Amino acid sequence: MGRLAILISGRGSNLQALIDAIERGILDAEIAVVISDRPDILGLARAEKAGIRTRVLPWQGDEHRESYFEAMAQVLHDEKIDLIVLAGFMRVLSRNIIREFPNKIINIHPSLLPAFSGMRAQRQALKYGVKLAGCTVHFVDEGVDTGPILIQRAVPVYSHDTEDTLAQRILAEEHVALPEAVQMVLAGNWRIQGRRVICEH
Ligand code: GRF
Repeated sequence: MGRLAILISGRGSNLQALIDAIERGILDAEIAVVISDRPDILGLARAEKAGIRTRVLPWQGDEHRESYFEAMAQVLHDEKIDLIVLAGFMRVLSRNIIREFPNKIINIHPSLLPAFSGMRAQRQALKYGVKLAGCTVHFVDEGVDTGPILIQRAVPVYSHDTEDTLAQRILAEEHVALPEAVQMVLAGNWRIQGRRVICEH
């Protein structure tokens, strides 16, 4: 059974999807720790309610980025983590921590990458006028939202959509995609070829 660390910065609905998937027996994993860069967020309350250990590592400002992620890497090593999941974690990881955990960090992003990376992806999609939007779970590499893709799920964009209605529709798919991707990575029957994640069945 894989040991997970889930990194969050807010509401934690993707964390909840992982907790639920484990409870329902469709994800064979254990959430060893939930790490947040902010205190008093809904995601931490969700973790506590599920009896999961939490660590708040308050963000100290960009000038302390290196030491921040050194401290986080220490926690991850101490916890013997198999997979680190960025589930709405709003900081860009340092290059060092990414190199320390090669192919062991995944992220969920609310767009069909490579379209609309970065902040407010749903708003970017609406503004651009695409008719399909969605979410992507990908390995984290040293770029922003650029690593090899594990899973994507698409949703339609309607004329009456607002940023909020579109975000809700995408979020429902995120909650399916993330547990699936975690299960897939932990199962280990994949390899990376160039940019492609090849799954051997
Ligand atoms: C999600 O839309 C995720 O794709 C993005 O941040 C949001 C986090 O939502 N990276 P939640 O905290 O999991 O509810």
